[in-house]
Amino acid sequence: MKIAVTNLKGGVGKTTIAVNLAVCFAQRGKSVCIIDTDQNQNSAVEWVTYRSPERPLIHVFPFELEQIRTNTIMDLEKKFDVVILDGSPQLSELATRTIIVSDVILIPVNTSLFDYKAFEKFLVLLNETNKNRVAVNMSSVRPYVVLNKINDRTVLSNEIIGGLQNFEVPILKTRLATRTSYGETTLDGIGVTEGRDKKASEEFNKLFDEIVNEIF
Ligand SMILES: Nc1ncnc2c1ncn2[C@@H]1O[C@H](COP(=O)(O)OP(=O)(O)O)[C@@H](O)[C@H]1O
Ligand SMILES: [Mg+2]
Repeated sequence: MKIAVTNLKGGVGKTTIAVNLAVCFAQRGKSVCIIDTDQNQNSAVEWVTYRSPERPLIHVFPFELEQIRTNTIMDLEKKFDVVILDGSPQLSELATRTIIVSDVILIPVNTSLFDYKAFEKFLVLLNETNKNRVAVNMSSVRPYVVLNKINDRTVLSNEIIGGLQNFEVPILKTRLATRTSYGETTLDGIGVTEGRDKKASEEFNKLFDEIVNEIF
């Protein structure tokens, strides 16, 4: 199973969701690796350097376009139960290939106007890429929106969520709130489900269960 966490926007929570998802799989005894495709940041690569060897093992590989093009990714899929691709925000061949090779994509969206616009742009890329997949007899990739940094019920965020519902991409019910523990746990190389913030842990486990129910 290959799950990409991607969107053509930086700072929406791709890496945060990718590493927390990896931790949830690892906590349940699954072998999991992360492919970090964001060569400017390489945040997942950095995150794992802070991770204690006593924690469930998560491999992180920095990946370049050539490796996504070749069979390297298929080899990883044979070795690991779950391969998580942490996306790059640049509109590039790397972003397209990330969608082509994945079974499922999670698209983190925050409720600002800019995020909404970036999501619209991303859907253009997604639809084009899906056409290319279908042309070579692949099934379409299955996309899901993950609402992230949702801490209020403001008119603006409700309007944006309402607007997102008009697209064909399903929105996962579990929303992630803005919580300092997402940033703090990252610095310790852990996920929120390994940390002290019970609310964050409960929230992410709920999202994880929903994802697993949807995709398996
Ligand atoms: N739900 C959240 N609550 C609080 N901070 C968050 C949340 N999700 C992400 N962040 C923070 O937002 C910043 C960008 O997140 P990151 O995962 O690096 O985004 P991306 O990979 O999309 O660029 C980081 O500082 C991260 O800790
Ligand atoms: Mg990132």
